[in-house]
Amino acid sequence: MIRADACAKIILCGEHAVVYGQPAIAMPVSSLRAVAAAEPADILRFALEDLDESFTLDSDSPIASLARQVCETLHIAPPPLTIRLKSAIPIASGLGSGAAIAAAVARVLFRAAGQSPDNERINALVYESEKLYHGTPSGIDNTVVVYEQPVYFIRDKPIETIKIQGEFHFIAADTGIAAPTKISVGDVRRLYESGRERIQPILEAIGVISRQVRAALESGDAAAMGKLMFENHVLLQQLTVSSLELDHLVEAALKAGAMGAKLSGGGRGGNMIALVTPDTAAPVKTALLSAGAVRVFETGLSGTGA
Ligand code: MEV
Repeated sequence: MIRADACAKIILCGEHAVVYGQPAIAMPVSSLRAVAAAEPADILRFALEDLDESFTLDSDSPIASLARQVCETLHIAPPPLTIRLKSAIPIASGLGSGAAIAAAVARVLFRAAGQSPDNERINALVYESEKLYHGTPSGIDNTVVVYEQPVYFIRDKPIETIKIQGEFHFIAADTGIAAPTKISVGDVRRLYESGRERIQPILEAIGVISRQVRAALESGDAAAMGKLMFENHVLLQQLTVSSLELDHLVEAALKAGAMGAKLSGGGRGGNMIALVTPDTAAPVKTALLSAGAVRVFETGLSGTGA
C-alpha cells in the first residue's frame, strides 16, 4: 500500500485581505491530517471513507479533476488504484480540509508513479484544485498545508518564513456551522466592487495588522499579538464575514482570560482562534465549550516552528 498525508492549517491574521494583495500569516495544524492510501484495483477510483462515497476519474469532483491534472503533469496513464481518503479535518470550517485532501491525493499519485512529491509541484497542483473550491483563492491555504510550516504570505510573492521568538499557545474552537470559503470570499468581492473607497482602507488596515503580528511573533510579544488579533476580528466584522456565533465565542474567550481572539479563515461559521497562556488554556477551553463550541483543540507556535 502507498500512503501520503497532509496537515490542516489555521489562519492567524490577514484572511480575506490576502486575496487583495495584503499579507497574511497562517500556521500548520500537524495534529489534524488528511490521509490517502492507494491499493491495486482495476481502474483509478476514490473512496471517501468518512462519507461512504466513491467515484472514478470522470467524476466532476474536485478530487477527480486534481487527479486528472496530476496524471497530465506526470505524463502517465491513470494508475489502476483505489485511493482511500480519510480526514480528521472538519469540512468547510476554515481549516483547509480541501487543500489537505488534495495534497494527500497528489502526493500519493506521485509516489505511485515512482516520483518524489516535491512541494513546489504539489503546491502548484493543489492551488489549481483550490480554484475549484474557492473561485479566487489567494494561495495561502495550499501553501501552508503543503509546506507544513508557518508562513507570512503575500499573493504571487515568494513564501516568507517567520523566525518566531518564544512560545504562543492557541485554542481553536469550531462553531459547528459549515461555511464554504467560496461564499464569504464572493460576498467580500461584491462588497469591494460596490464600494472600493470604503473597503480598501479596511483591507489595508488588516495588512498593517499582519505586519505587526509578524513583528510580535519575531519579538515574542504575546500581549501585542493578542491586541492585534482582536483588532483584526473587528475589521473582519466590518467585511461582514463574522457571525453571531463567532462573535459570541470571541467574547467568551476574552472574558475567560484569552489575550486575544478572532475568527479564523473564511468566517460566517467555521473556527475562531484565541491566544492563551498555559494557565488560561483550560478556562478558555471550558468557556468556549459552554458558549456553544462543538470542538476545541490546542495548537501553538514556538521558536522551533512547532
Ligand atoms: C481562507 O482560509 C482564507 C481566505 O483569505 C481565502 C483565501 O485566501 O483564499 C478567506
